[in-house]
Amino acid sequence: MKKLLRTKICDLFTDESKYNKEVNVKGWVRTKRGSKNVAFIALNDGSTINNIQIVVDFNIIPEKDISKVTTGASISVNGILVESQGSKQKVEINASSIIVLGEANPEEYPLQPKKHSLEFLRENAHLRFRTNTFSAVFRIRHAMTFAIHKYFNDKGYYNIHTPIITASDAEGAGEMFRVTTLDLKNLPLYDEKNIDFSKDFFGKETSLTVSGQLEAELAALALTQVYTFGPTFRAENSNTTRHLAEFWMIEPEIAFADINDNMDIAEDFLKYLIKYALDNCNDDLQFLSKRLADEEKNKKMQDRAPELIGKLKSVYESDFERITYTQAIEILLKSKPNKNKKFAFVIEGWGADLQSEHERYLVEKYFKKPVIITDYPKEIKAFYMKQNDDGKTVRAMDILFPQIGEIVGGSQREEEYDKLNSIIKEQNIPEKDIWWYLQTRKFGTVPHSGFGLGFERLMLFITGMGNIRDVIPFPRTPKNAEF
Ligand code: 4AD
Ligand code: MG
Repeated sequence: MKKLLRTKICDLFTDESKYNKEVNVKGWVRTKRGSKNVAFIALNDGSTINNIQIVVDFNIIPEKDISKVTTGASISVNGILVESQGSKQKVEINASSIIVLGEANPEEYPLQPKKHSLEFLRENAHLRFRTNTFSAVFRIRHAMTFAIHKYFNDKGYYNIHTPIITASDAEGAGEMFRVTTLDLKNLPLYDEKNIDFSKDFFGKETSLTVSGQLEAELAALALTQVYTFGPTFRAENSNTTRHLAEFWMIEPEIAFADINDNMDIAEDFLKYLIKYALDNCNDDLQFLSKRLADEEKNKKMQDRAPELIGKLKSVYESDFERITYTQAIEILLKSKPNKNKKFAFVIEGWGADLQSEHERYLVEKYFKKPVIITDYPKEIKAFYMKQNDDGKTVRAMDILFPQIGEIVGGSQREEEYDKLNSIIKEQNIPEKDIWWYLQTRKFGTVPHSGFGLGFERLMLFITGMGNIRDVIPFPRTPKNAEF
């Protein structure tokens, strides 16, 4: 085979200078179909949702030479790139030689050229990158990662790498995975019951972080605008389509910003990301939109998810509704599903924690656009949130999205030393774990705010996928850490 530089399949469709020239492509076979004299191979290398069609004329390459070219096999192809005869594709390759790099025995290869269920593909997560759906999802995931860094970089934020192993529970919810090198069969005790963690690797109890926020705050109180984008871990036993035990979170933290600035930034940021996807991921979004429409067509009209691209545009163009928690409760108390006890968790009154069914009612039925809820009861929010003068609420803000519910959680932070100190005491947070955080309120404290965007929740919204396990390559959920 003649040695040629490999061309990415996406470039074949856009670079007209390659027309009628000899090219080399490498990739994985999606399908092969044939007739007496000719075979057509659909080849994909992950650079685009579109396959390149390879035309094999048996007068040039004998049929027996491509008997091992089956779905899933990897091949290298030389041939002339020509404008296509068929109407389905713009260009195709008239093959002059084909080498099989890696066979995929059709008797054994799990993926067949047909539609597989998402559940089946989850069990074959090592191969699901090779499907149209998952290659589209993971190309978009990359584009979103890039857009997030671009957004903050363009606005002068600094990316801070906050620690993954930590001794503090930032959210105070006690949902942490322990990190230890102690011998679990022979634990050192300092009395009859209690483990002596001074013997552990770090000389204290440590866990995987639930949030980079506390450390991001330290950085913001010097660098003014910072953000973290890292993995976070939560040992909450929620087996839902919205929860992962390991997920990625983007957490900006901004000095001299109050809760209103925080909402403005979060809204602008989310719209930027939606616009970035619409502008840069069009082929993949078109594909996912068709896929979603296919899935939904068997559902009842009122249960169907909206068309994907239209939904993205409508959220991009909307002004997010801003209401207080108290207003939200008033709306929910008067709502039909609450009165008819259709909610799994019926709202009894002020103080109730909002579940995703309530959030989605407000967004999808009541306001029909994203909603930002502020000023939640302090009992249901984390210790670090700025306390309002009413003594009951804190300056929290959650952003709720259609189909998703909560996508962003954030707040203005308590910057007053005495108030923060008393809440830390009230909640029995050990001072030895948090003294450094408290100290920033003693020296040069300023009003500041921030929020956390769940990356996979964003991905659910952008791709229209229904299960969070399908927007992260290797999901970690209760009883599941395969791959
Ligand atoms: O609301 P949360 O718990 O807020 C924080 O962690 C703050 N420290 C953020 C900040 O102010 N810097 O989580 C933020 C977001 C949620 O709105 C949700 O999108 C996502 O993280 N999230 C999860 N995503 C997937 N699986 C889980 N188990 C998640 N828990 C939270
Ligand atoms: Mg939250």
